[in-house]
Amino acid sequence: MADRQVSMDKIVNLCKARGIIFPGSDIYGGMGNTWDYGPVGVEMKNNIKRAWWKRFVQESTNSFGVDAAILMNPKVWEASGHTTSFADPQMDCKECKSRHRADNLIEAHSKGTVNPDLMTNEQMEAYIAEHHVCCPRCGNFNWTPIRQFNLMFSTSRGVTEDNRNVIYLRPETAQGEFVNFQNVQRTMRAKIPFGIAQIGKAFRNEITPGNFIFRTIEFEQMEHQWFCKEGTDVEYYEEFKKKAWKFLTDLGFDESHLRFKDHDKLAHYAKCACDIQYLFPMGWSELNGIHNRTDYDLSRHQEYSGKTMIYNDPITNEKYIPYVVEYSIGADRLMLAVLSEAYEEEELEGGDTRVVMHFHPAVAAYKAAVLPLQKNLADKAKEIYAELSKRFMITYDDAGSIGKRYRRQDEIGTPFSVTIDFDTLEDNTVTVRDRDTMAQIRISVDKLADYINERIAFN
Ligand code: GAP
Repeated sequence: MADRQVSMDKIVNLCKARGIIFPGSDIYGGMGNTWDYGPVGVEMKNNIKRAWWKRFVQESTNSFGVDAAILMNPKVWEASGHTTSFADPQMDCKECKSRHRADNLIEAHSKGTVNPDLMTNEQMEAYIAEHHVCCPRCGNFNWTPIRQFNLMFSTSRGVTEDNRNVIYLRPETAQGEFVNFQNVQRTMRAKIPFGIAQIGKAFRNEITPGNFIFRTIEFEQMEHQWFCKEGTDVEYYEEFKKKAWKFLTDLGFDESHLRFKDHDKLAHYAKCACDIQYLFPMGWSELNGIHNRTDYDLSRHQEYSGKTMIYNDPITNEKYIPYVVEYSIGADRLMLAVLSEAYEEEELEGGDTRVVMHFHPAVAAYKAAVLPLQKNLADKAKEIYAELSKRFMITYDDAGSIGKRYRRQDEIGTPFSVTIDFDTLEDNTVTVRDRDTMAQIRISVDKLADYINERIAFN
């Protein structure tokens, strides 16, 4: 990828123009920080989730998937510590009433030279006063003290007004894996070490969402909990750092756009934790996390539920509550990274430029586009479309010049364009154009599906 031709505006505009991502509730003027995936985007996001699942569940001999309920017993969040500890330091501007995170204000003001993760609330307040950090919205200096703002969305369950209980939209999918630890272990006869994975929606009432789909209030997480014996956790933590990195480079990320960053301030559950950061259009930011959660979650669930979380080792007869190494990545955040990484404005001979998205073929929405050179070749083209679409997502385009149609496919990253011309009727061959090189080959229709199939796998 040519370096940083990409900007957030270009990505947002391309996504809107090409059916990848639209603003949520668009016809009502949007709904702050919600986004709807369009026909192209939903295919891409499903492919991202499929690639992740293939790597971390399908190809693992000892990892199992679950799909737990979003609404969980409120005791789950007491046990996990989220009701008391899942909070950000919030400051309100008394002038314009806008709401900000104190740590973000300090980071922005110091241009990243001061690390607010190492500060207490009192120290952050002192820094903001001493450096006269003003409201980025109205420019005034009139702050409320810092308050801890809990990020969980609450709603109520119950049919009558006097019979309502507060429940929460889950802020992470992880707890669905922890509460099913015994169910999965027993039914799958799983032996430690083993993993439980889940892909699903999570919700956070973020104080400062933004940067398109980077930080939203509703998002999807892909989380994998690795249950292991205390003492082996450090080794597995390192192993999952490597696996997480390899997943990204196999998806096509340039290593120079990725880096590890250890957490200075640990979440309430973690013994050690790090992120893989990606060089997003707005700068280096967290893409995924790897956390050593120790036996914190299972111990707390044992305490709060009264149900045992002890694992009986069938070989050694040892009994213990397992440690957990967590690998967690946002599907939407990965989608933004994939979009940013793939973007190129390529200069062509003759002075033209094309925007081309160099997605890994496994991620691309459509594996091929079927393009009849002229409309009266539609019968043959539709026959080829019908055959190919039994195996892959395929798109069909017969509008405009062939050059324009190639450009449209380049912009959504379709790896192959299949052109049907009059020779196709004679000898049953088609032209296949490669998205990245623009090279064209002539190939028999009988071999087309296998040709595509061999080039799109995520391994
Ligand atoms: N279970 C651990 C956990 O939830 P986290 O670091 O808070 O850890 C994990 O979140 C990943 O989820 C992040 O690395 C990011 O990819 C994604 N994520 C977190 N908050 C998000 C948000 N508001 N919008 C989009 N993605 C988010």
